[in-house]
Amino acid sequence: LSFFYLLSCRLWRLIKFFLFLMSAETAHRFVLFFLRKQNHRLQRNRRVPQIPEVHKRSLWGQFYSNPVGLAAGFDKGEVLVPVLFELGFGFIEIGTVTPRPQEGNQRPRLFRLKEYQALINRMGFNNPGAQAVAQRLRNVPQRVGPLWLNIGKNKDTPLSAATDDYVSAMQTLYLVADAFVINVSSPNTLGLRNLQSATLLSPLLENLRAEAHSLAQKFGVAERPLLLKISPDIADDDLPDIVILAKKFNFNGIIATNTTITRPVSHHLCHEEGGFSGPALRPRSYEVLRSLRALIESDRSLTLVSVGGITSTEDIRERLTVGASLVELYTHLIYRGPESVKLLLQQLKNAKIKSA
Ligand SMILES: Cc1cc2nc3c(=O)[nH]c(=O)nc-3n(C[C@H](O)[C@H](O)[C@H](O)COP(=O)(O)O)c2cc1C
Repeated sequence: LSFFYLLSCRLWRLIKFFLFLMSAETAHRFVLFFLRKQNHRLQRNRRVPQIPEVHKRSLWGQFYSNPVGLAAGFDKGEVLVPVLFELGFGFIEIGTVTPRPQEGNQRPRLFRLKEYQALINRMGFNNPGAQAVAQRLRNVPQRVGPLWLNIGKNKDTPLSAATDDYVSAMQTLYLVADAFVINVSSPNTLGLRNLQSATLLSPLLENLRAEAHSLAQKFGVAERPLLLKISPDIADDDLPDIVILAKKFNFNGIIATNTTITRPVSHHLCHEEGGFSGPALRPRSYEVLRSLRALIESDRSLTLVSVGGITSTEDIRERLTVGASLVELYTHLIYRGPESVKLLLQQLKNAKIKSA
């Protein structure tokens, strides 16, 4: 029996029961192991997934079969393509990838707050490093949809040298990425979020734009879109500077938001350090999206991607109506299982979306 047959037989509840008996990270590793096996099978069969083609769109000359993507952090460099597309996603964000491999923080570092369908994580950019990820991406036999590469700095790189890390990761991954996400918003790498301040952000964005330009010329390929991923904990007063700098250095989009260090619910695990994700992040993520849309006004050069607490078609519809071109999710997939994306897409098919 295939994995997907089991899921379509609604055995997910039973599988989830056993997965949730394990620690959150062990369950994640178990699922990745399973997905890896399916990935090999799909790669051998070279099967094109049957995804309902709702709300197709074209961005930066790239085709998106639907606007729902997998947010960063689920596939930190395993490169489980095509199996992740098989779940229904219109695009996949891989990472965060750092120039050199790193283990991440000590375990336990991932916690379930089941009552709130939420997670707290302090993974700390565990990933195999840019070289290994580039090699895996080169081995993907077939590009089913856009693959975004989320890049960051290594833990032991001082903030003053952060730009070098981002540039190095971009150089290594340039030809295998369809777009780059510059992650300056993870709460689990000390000081990383300081890069969102205008004084540090400005040289970072300037260097990355210049590097993307020269790499495109060097390789004779289209210049890859650059997106900036921001934190929900950013002060509203700091958003205008972010938009000004993103525009100044011709960034193509902003992804809002990463996880929050606030605790929007009360739970006995709230004292655990790390970023909170899940439905309780929804109000702040939505608020940041609205503020960004208002700041950008009618200028369509900056694409907005909304992530944080998305669990329903209504959420997706709301974000697209307010002005996001694409949305992403992660925590919903953990709680609702591999069928969840296709279910959302089926319902989205019938939803009327008025673009902002
Ligand atoms: C376990 C876990 C690991 C994550 N790792 C990353 C990461 O490496 N880089 C990143 O930009 N965001 C990371 N995120 C944040 C997600 O991409 C997303 O922005 C956040 O979880 C909010 O979306 P959600 O409520 O749908 O989960 C991670 C989230 C979780 C739960």
